[in-house]
Amino acid sequence: MRLYINGKRKIGTRDIMIYGHFIEHFHRQIYGGVYDPGNPLSDEDGLRKDVLEAMRRIKVPVLRWPGGCFVSSYHWKDAVGENRKPLFDKAWRVEEPNTFGTDEYIRMCRKIGCEPYICTNAGTGTAEEMSDWVEYCNLESEGQYAKWRIANGHPKPYKVKYWSVGNENYGFWEIGAKSAEEWGRLVAESSKMIKHVDPETELTAAALTDLNWNINLLDHSAQFLDWISIHEYWDGINQTNDYADYEAVMAYTNRTEHSIAEVRGLITAMKLEKKIKIAFDEWNLRGWYHPNVHTIEQGRTKEEYLYPRDKNDDNSKYTMADAVFTACFLNALNRNCDIVGMANFAPIVNTRGCIFTHKDGIVLRSTYYVFDLYVNYLGDVVLDSWCAGMESIRVRNKAGDLEETDTLDIAATSFSDRAGYAVAAVNKCADQEKELEIDLEASGDIRIYYISGRSTESYNDVGREEAAIQCEELGKYVPGMKVTLKPHMVGIIQIGM
Ligand code: AHR
Repeated sequence: MRLYINGKRKIGTRDIMIYGHFIEHFHRQIYGGVYDPGNPLSDEDGLRKDVLEAMRRIKVPVLRWPGGCFVSSYHWKDAVGENRKPLFDKAWRVEEPNTFGTDEYIRMCRKIGCEPYICTNAGTGTAEEMSDWVEYCNLESEGQYAKWRIANGHPKPYKVKYWSVGNENYGFWEIGAKSAEEWGRLVAESSKMIKHVDPETELTAAALTDLNWNINLLDHSAQFLDWISIHEYWDGINQTNDYADYEAVMAYTNRTEHSIAEVRGLITAMKLEKKIKIAFDEWNLRGWYHPNVHTIEQGRTKEEYLYPRDKNDDNSKYTMADAVFTACFLNALNRNCDIVGMANFAPIVNTRGCIFTHKDGIVLRSTYYVFDLYVNYLGDVVLDSWCAGMESIRVRNKAGDLEETDTLDIAATSFSDRAGYAVAAVNKCADQEKELEIDLEASGDIRIYYISGRSTESYNDVGREEAAIQCEELGKYVPGMKVTLKPHMVGIIQIGM
């Protein structure tokens, strides 16, 4: 297979925000995850220092919060100031202590060095409540909410730029779900009020790839929106916990660009491509396991709807399959960087996250190292490239059907701030090395940073690290040089750096 790269043909400059993350008040993500007052590993604000450090290493650019489904019955005023009280979270059916609220979240973002991105309650909330939240965060001192922030010890406005109206309000599972018509009107009125408070905000709104939903939404609200949100969890196992195996995961890599293509098509057809970008603001290979929680059948016990979610935290489930899929998806985002400006891996801590916490430390799952590779070793200028003689592999998808998928998945880049090239190259083949010839006008050293593990099932756990970054120096680059890609490998090949 021969990769042709023309260093002068640029697709665009990818926004660092495509490597963003999401954190929700669900299970052990906030409480007992990143926020753990009393743990010796936590700092004076109760934030786990080891987790913050891991987040800084992958330069988390933006962190969406507080949900997810959680937000659709969350009232932010319950978790600000002195008078907080525990309330029942009707989405996840647990007690929410409200000890971690807006001020704690902003403090955490500042410590990570990332942009906050707040998702509002458009389920049981109102346009007014959403815009009150913007007042609290962004106004200097006008009005009761900015004054409340100041009284809470935060004299300077937080200047939160990114806001979302709602989360998955199209879904039957969401508290306060809406019809397409209701949604268009609610988003328009909410966005109008938010922008009246702070016209500098950038707004997104819950959407999906459904034409009817999106047309209603954009017809009513496009004038106020800067983004449209989509979510995707390809291996939907929230009721079953039956993980697709490595081969079936490779079949999912065929689907990664589909949602982007659909939404791009609509945005373009509505002549909005210069105004509205896609925020893929929740994504992960696998849906989170939380069976029965959204059902209201009589007789369902906590054993059935609450405790099964602990199974999300089984580290042995996050293997090279997750890593290879994650890399293929990040390649897709890079190749579509002209229209996708933000994405949020869901979630960042525990559950399906890339960082797992336990009381004595953390485990960096295979997906963490994929972010490490893409953020720290790949370039930001995405180049056009073409692979001649692309081979394909036959894989059995989860439904049991055979599918073909390209053996390699590639994104070629250069750097806006330095010389050199970096090529993200993924070998999906489970058991065979592949050779990639690279045709590029460049000189200098060539090396590869990669993760591959010993098998497709390699994973990281407490006291066990099988999938971490390695580096091989490959000498001087000559055009047409062959690079060997190990089986199930995610690699970044750097040339001339
Ligand atoms: O399953 C977890 C949930 O996934 C998030 O809360 C929601 O936004 C998505 O459906």
